[in-house]
Amino acid sequence: MNITVIGTGYVGLVSGVCFSELGNNVICVDNNLEKVTTLSEGNVPIYEPGLKEIMNSNMKAGRLSFTSNIQEAISRSDIIIIAVGTPSLPNGEANLSYIELVAREIGSYMDSYKIIMTKSTVPVGTNDRIEEWIGSLTTHPFDMASVPEFLREGTAVQDTLYPDRIVIGTRSERAIAILRELHGPLTDQIIVTDIRSAEMIKYASNAFLATKISFINEISNICEKVGADVSRVAEGMGYDKRIGASFLKAGIGYGGSCFPKDTQALIQIAGNVDYDFKLLKSVVEVNKDQRFNIIRKLDEALGELEGKHIAVWGLAFKPDTDDVRDAPAIEIIQRLLDLGAKVQAYDPIATNNFRKEVDSPSITWENSAMEAAKGADALCVLTEWKEFMEINLSELAEYMNQPVLIDGRNIYAENQIADTSFQYYSVGRPGLTNIDGRKTAVL
Ligand code: NAD
Ligand code: UGA
Repeated sequence: MNITVIGTGYVGLVSGVCFSELGNNVICVDNNLEKVTTLSEGNVPIYEPGLKEIMNSNMKAGRLSFTSNIQEAISRSDIIIIAVGTPSLPNGEANLSYIELVAREIGSYMDSYKIIMTKSTVPVGTNDRIEEWIGSLTTHPFDMASVPEFLREGTAVQDTLYPDRIVIGTRSERAIAILRELHGPLTDQIIVTDIRSAEMIKYASNAFLATKISFINEISNICEKVGADVSRVAEGMGYDKRIGASFLKAGIGYGGSCFPKDTQALIQIAGNVDYDFKLLKSVVEVNKDQRFNIIRKLDEALGELEGKHIAVWGLAFKPDTDDVRDAPAIEIIQRLLDLGAKVQAYDPIATNNFRKEVDSPSITWENSAMEAAKGADALCVLTEWKEFMEINLSELAEYMNQPVLIDGRNIYAENQIADTSFQYYSVGRPGLTNIDGRKTAVL
């Protein structure tokens, strides 16, 4: 099939590359000329494991190309995929200005029947508006389909090639047949539904996953007070198939470009029809506060933070990505700076992006985990990068001014801590002891 993907961010680029891998001819369009040049030279502007190799092999095979010429791309394609951003407006609602602009461009350049497939996450009713925007500018026939995207950053290629399900929301039998054929090689689990339900499936899925995370984080806070271990609690819960083991990792709360944005947007979608989504509002509140447990634990371990040297490991919102959008590290580091601390920060790949969000003479940007820990009064683990798990903890303690470790992602096991002198705080595991038999303090 001949496909145009508009927007070459995490979703558009990975979708375009994967559809070309399935043998389709794909043109990826972006209005960011620098990005188009980088991509045309075979380089990937984001960090996404495995993407560059598949991208280059499909470019070489002549099935994948990049351009800023949207008109030409549209005229050469039967399926147009919209994958531009839908960031939050200050009131939490989704900003649809990129979507509207693209819809109007599609409307202007339509020259034959096409399927317009929206992959961007958009509020319920948006695809009807896209249809109106396009329809107001063309007399050529087209069909709208909402096909929400469920990939995760860091595993985006894998998630796209082996999805749990594909949701197709459309009212056109012709579009159903074509989109079933397009997605058929990926999975048998294809759910065909109406457009509004498809739009809602995306928000409901992200909101539910965010709810699981806030739920386990609250359980972890209670575990700290009653002397239970949240990792064992989650394990015990997860064997129940009705609950499932995933998304029950307690930590410093969810971040990223999607859960914070989409939970806020769903609260607004409900609010717009006079529904007060109380549960989701609490999920968001719990999440906002959870990250500051890091500061509370530092307070307890060190007292006054003014002038203290705090090492921070991990700036990305999760491992295997250089994305720092809404990363908990942003607010945690800002709070440390407000309290007068000196920060020694390290991330394997996200430092450059992070410095665009937060920078200060009180932060030193280190080139290795050990360098960041050198002379520090405490070390905070904010992202569970694999390399942090492989560090020799006894050696690490030697490097530091004081062996205080605040593990915001529970990456170290009980036996690793037991052999060290670390005063160790984790999330919801208050019973862990170090070499002196000293228990993690309970807040
Ligand atoms: P992104 O910001 O990484 O990429 C968007 C791209 O669109 C950018 O490259 C931008 O230059 C381009 N763009 C904007 N306006 C354009 C225009 N008029 N013409 C051509 N290109 C234009 O965004 P993303 O993370 O890929 O997310 C895109 C959508 O997919 C959002 O709605 C998001 O909620 C949703 N989503 C994202 C993920 C994820 O993991 N990032 C997963 C599922 C769904
Ligand atoms: C999430 C969803 O998982 C995807 O299905 C969805 O497509 C995407 O949002 C989106 O709509 O953009 P992503 O944000 O890439 O994907 O990353 P996740 O792996 O879901 O992690 C999100 C955040 O939750 C991270 O900060 C992570 O550290 C945190 N998290 C995740 C936890 O704190 N505990 C967990 O058990 C799982």
